[in-house]
Amino acid sequence: MSAVSSCRICGGHLHEFFEFGRQPLANALISPGHDGEELLFRLAVGICRSCTMVQLTDEVPRELMFHDAYPYRSSGSAFMRDHFESVAHEFLDTELKGNGFLIEIGCNDGVMLRTIAAAGMRHLGVDPSRGATEAARSQGMRVRNCFFDEASAAGILAEEGPANVIYSANTISHVPYVESIFNGVASLLAPGGIFVFEDPYFGDIVERTAFDQIYDEHFFLFTVRSVANLAERSGMQLVDVAHLPVHGGEIRFTLSLRGAREPTARVAEMLRAEDARGLTDLATLQRFSMAVQNSRRALLALLRDLRGRGKRVVGYGATAKSATVTNYCGIGPDLLPFIVDNTPAKQGRLTPGSHIPIRPPEAFSRPYPEFAVLFAWNHAREIMEKEREFRKTGGRWILYVPQVHVV
Ligand code: SAH
Ligand code: TMP
Ligand code: ZN
Repeated sequence: MSAVSSCRICGGHLHEFFEFGRQPLANALISPGHDGEELLFRLAVGICRSCTMVQLTDEVPRELMFHDAYPYRSSGSAFMRDHFESVAHEFLDTELKGNGFLIEIGCNDGVMLRTIAAAGMRHLGVDPSRGATEAARSQGMRVRNCFFDEASAAGILAEEGPANVIYSANTISHVPYVESIFNGVASLLAPGGIFVFEDPYFGDIVERTAFDQIYDEHFFLFTVRSVANLAERSGMQLVDVAHLPVHGGEIRFTLSLRGAREPTARVAEMLRAEDARGLTDLATLQRFSMAVQNSRRALLALLRDLRGRGKRVVGYGATAKSATVTNYCGIGPDLLPFIVDNTPAKQGRLTPGSHIPIRPPEAFSRPYPEFAVLFAWNHAREIMEKEREFRKTGGRWILYVPQVHVV
């Protein structure tokens, strides 16, 4: 665990604006009977005074987060499966028309790549988490189990040649050594190729007080301004941006090699909008910090009140985000006896730090609990639709984004 008091990108001064205290790794689920000590690190977030990049102050070594037993599986959400299928079709209809070569960084179980592969398009997934990529490989996708960075990019270039599209979702923000990734991407891109990545948008995190988006794996919280600065450093440029309605608010960045494409008007528009709202002003960050503390107080007060009145409350979705919520708020099995989750690799295990048992969705059935905390709030529509029965029996959902409320 290393503490970084200066910007991981430009070395500028980091102004810390929120500290959660010592936290476990968000996906380090505990197997029953395992009594080894849990690894804790200091979770705090700061902003670089020079390049404006919002980032964690402490870095967890990558091998501790992403390894053969990494439990997250992208295909657990039908909404996300649809999203990635349409992303793939967009590439097939434009950049990859006729033929081409697509590389995906952080392909996980092949949720996006499977549409590319099914179209017979040349592709390569790169992801260090072997267990997560098993499904992709067994469905015939080409995958390399390694960390994408400047060194592995050189090997890929030598063996596979340049790529027309390099795509990555919910991975670039996970990588403190992002400059090594960008240099690798720049070396691998065909002259007219594009680098497209999607990650949580700091603008949405602030607007919705989505403090649970902050955990070990989310090292960077991107803005358009900070990514535009970052792109320049590797000889690339930001040529398009799009706001996405997935995972509670994400942004898609499109980069090209410098001078290869004309930036769209949307880039300048979003830069103006970020400046107009003072997204990274100290006053905004201070308001965010107050709002996070209010959320914590309100959620704890509600759960304690329900317990006091003998109500049955469980959790829904053992998300990585829930690790921040339960550990920062001090929520354990005394307040939530279990959390249900549809990921087989998570079931039967305990949440990190807070040690709440994770059970399959079948545990969420008649007799239903009276309340359920929706930790997977970014999948609210899909889950509430699936669990209509719960509402019919009088069950109520507890949400804490954008503030604590019951529906
Ligand atoms: N793209 C999927 C998976 C996101 S989870 C989705 O959007 O749902 C993040 C994935 O990135 C994990 O599978 C992890 O193993 C992988 N990853 C982390 N660091 C990486 C790196 N340097 N290169 C490639 N993959 C990486
Ligand atoms: P995510 O917010 O990081 O994508 O994680 C969502 C978690 O919620 C993941 O562990 C899977 C789980 N989940 C369910 O249990 N049921 C569902 O219907 C959906 C969409 C997700
Ligand atoms: Zn900086």
